[in-house]
Amino acid sequence: MDTNAVLYGDLERILLTREEIAKAVRELACRITHDYAGKEPVMICILKGACVFFTDLIREIDLPLTTEFMSVSSYGSSTKSSGVVRILKDLDRDISGKDVLVVEDIVDSGMSLSYLKGVLENRNAASISIVTLLDKPARRRVPLEVQYSCFNIPDAFVVGYGLDFDEKYRNLPDIGVLHPKIYGGQA
Ligand code: IMP
Ligand code: MG
Repeated sequence: MDTNAVLYGDLERILLTREEIAKAVRELACRITHDYAGKEPVMICILKGACVFFTDLIREIDLPLTTEFMSVSSYGSSTKSSGVVRILKDLDRDISGKDVLVVEDIVDSGMSLSYLKGVLENRNAASISIVTLLDKPARRRVPLEVQYSCFNIPDAFVVGYGLDFDEKYRNLPDIGVLHPKIYGGQA
């Protein structure tokens, strides 16, 4: 806590501790290992938010998986998504015929992922599942099936463990609710 005192000062409260996160990641990895037994899934990390979650998750999965990284940017303000996604860095390899797991940090309105899923569906994967660390179901604006989620959280703007505000706070080991004074009002 002390080493991150500057960053923790901007939080209203801690929502999920590193221990709670690690436990949930291990449990999720067990489920994926079980559900994809005999397969060689392609795990896609959606940069940058999912990178901390992704690197912890893949190391707990006991399968011959491969990794891909995709960078997308959603048009809109820093705390609200517009749903239109621009691909800044695409996959390096073809996913046709593969079992794909798309790994996200958080599903909020669902608009970015629903758009992205449509893009990936056109590439003829054998299956596509959505994996998210956090889900804010109260904020959903489009229907989206999320196959794997670690935590449902309330409607608050959170940072840490990869999640940012204005590119900062990704290096916090815990997840906290950002103090509204930092982003100037409501989420
Ligand atoms: P959606 O299209 O509204 O589901 O937006 C999802 C994206 O918005 C995530 O991948 C995050 O980058 C960002 N986002 C949504 N809520 C939060 C939050 O509470 N903290 C940090 N980023 C968030
Ligand atoms: Mg973000």
